[in-house]
Amino acid sequence: MMSGRPMGPGAMARGQQAWGMPGPKVTLQTSPWVLLRRLVAMIRDHDRALIITFASLVSMSALQMTMPWAFKHVIDVTIPERDVTGLIEIGVALVAMQAVRYGLGYLQRYYISFASQQLVFRIARDLFAHIQKLSLRFYERNPTGEIISRITNDIQAMQQAINGGTIMAFVGLLNMVAFGAIMLVLQWKLALVVFVTVPVLVAASQFSAAKLRDRYQRVQEKAADVNNVLSENISGMRVAKAFAQEGRQRQRFGSENRGNLDANMSTASVQAVATPAIQMISAGGTALVLGLGTWFVLDGDMTVGALVAFNSYLIQFYQPVEDLIRVNNTLQQALAAAERIFEYMDEKPDVVEGASPISLERMQGAVRFEGVTFAYEPGKPVLIDANVDVQPGQVVALVGHTGSGKTTFVNLLPRFYDPVAGRIVVDGHDLRDVSLESLRAQMGVVIQETFLFGATMRDNIRYGRLDATDAEVEAAAREAFADEFIRQLPKGYDAWGGDGGALISRGQRQRISLARAILKDPRILILDEATSDVDTETEVLIQAALERVMRGRTTFVIAHRLSTVRHADQILVLDHGRIVERGTHDALLGAGGAYASLYQAQFAGQEAVAAG
Ligand SMILES: Nc1ncnc2c1ncn2[C@@H]1O[C@H](COP(=O)(O)OP(=O)(O)OP(=O)(O)O)[C@@H](O)[C@H]1O
Ligand SMILES: [Mg+2]
Repeated sequence: MMSGRPMGPGAMARGQQAWGMPGPKVTLQTSPWVLLRRLVAMIRDHDRALIITFASLVSMSALQMTMPWAFKHVIDVTIPERDVTGLIEIGVALVAMQAVRYGLGYLQRYYISFASQQLVFRIARDLFAHIQKLSLRFYERNPTGEIISRITNDIQAMQQAINGGTIMAFVGLLNMVAFGAIMLVLQWKLALVVFVTVPVLVAASQFSAAKLRDRYQRVQEKAADVNNVLSENISGMRVAKAFAQEGRQRQRFGSENRGNLDANMSTASVQAVATPAIQMISAGGTALVLGLGTWFVLDGDMTVGALVAFNSYLIQFYQPVEDLIRVNNTLQQALAAAERIFEYMDEKPDVVEGASPISLERMQGAVRFEGVTFAYEPGKPVLIDANVDVQPGQVVALVGHTGSGKTTFVNLLPRFYDPVAGRIVVDGHDLRDVSLESLRAQMGVVIQETFLFGATMRDNIRYGRLDATDAEVEAAAREAFADEFIRQLPKGYDAWGGDGGALISRGQRQRISLARAILKDPRILILDEATSDVDTETEVLIQAALERVMRGRTTFVIAHRLSTVRHADQILVLDHGRIVERGTHDALLGAGGAYASLYQAQFAGQEAVAAG
């Protein structure tokens, strides 16, 4: 379920919205009770820790309640009777009581941290495991910064709600009842006066709670927006610098950062109004008690000690109300965060396995597209009625203008997406009947942009098959013509890849990616070549590597190189999602159609290279 606002590439658009703060009002889509119930269900596993915390807190406040009574006794009995032994006894008892409280305080703090940290740990683990199962569409809709923010900020907010005194506040409610009872015993008329102020307090806190929930939702969203701009700017730093756009980027970040500040301040303004208002009500109550109490004492309805004790109980009676309001803040923030987390938890993968998926042992590699139509957005097909028959071991080249649907076509093979009509059949099985694991295990994909993980070159290649030995890794690298340049890196195969890793060129990255595919030894190979912007020598190397890799496998290659296309068994020419021509290089060139003109535009200049 989406929270009712556009997501996805809209990070930019939303960034712009922030100019006109306070921005659109955001509200929880789910009832707070539903959220609470789900939260409680998650915490239930740690009920032992929570019970210990609760019991410690209750015992601590029970002990605390004896204090004013001791004072009353000292004032009304011990002092008038000059009872020194009694005073010493009371002193010793109070010291002992503090020692017990200390122990209980330790238990309470330790176990509440334990429960809340465990919860953070588990939610982070489950959330990550869950979003990993989600299909690529999820990642297209949700910007990276947003996802990271939910796994970090939002979980943090939930932890604070548990750690930050929520339980203490509930114990406080129990305390209020106990204090109320004691006050009734001490002087029931005074107690009734105090009780009259309670509904006013409750109304005030209800009012602030309602206001705060919406505002905290916006705080969490703004935090995610800041994260988004941050992650975008950092990944795009090279582009920003190249276009001397640092100023603009700073502005964008500045505006999101300000949005975050404003959202936080909007909660502060509610708190700033609510807290003093509540303090005023309780101060008013205290003043009344002092006035009336003095009168009762003078009339002989109450002892001085009882009035002193009553006043102490009164202060403690009001304390939970203040705590509750403070806790309400964190609780509201946690509810807003919980909703955002549950929203991800409730996301279902678009691509799912059937009830009893077939596990393909070793594919032959026969592939058939039967009337396959695909659309990223409903009603806007980018692949239309594709019919293709590929024999095991054949090489299929896809050509066509940019945006014609080549990448889309090959993305359907590992089931990154499912067709909206028609079906894809591998070795006689509809892809949707095959287990994703066995399907993807036999598919090697070399995508347009090679991604290197923050690991050594060796491990980056080993990603193709985790149990490969070092010797196998190096053999694959040699086949992909990657061995030589890897050895020239300062640490060779142990050089670090990924962000901030060894700076290697795109052609080199491609060869790492090829080595990965070779190591995997897939039955179906998908090569989505980056445009041929590598130098001639590299081009020849990549070409030679490609030919080796393609041997004996069904290969789909999106080719920007004439040499690859020329030797393909079938060439599919795509135009606006339709296969407009098909055949071999020579036949298509002879036909003088779409391929022939594409050839003129794209490949003719490569003749010299291909020949060399
Ligand atoms: N994830 C996506 N969500 C929505 N639309 C998409 C997505 N990916 C591609 N498209 C659209 O689908 C169409 C086909 O894109 P595709 O990436 O398949 O083209 P291509 O032939 O591979 O182009 P190129 O040669 O530039 O790589 C384009 O109009 C593109 O805008
Ligand atoms: Mg493409």
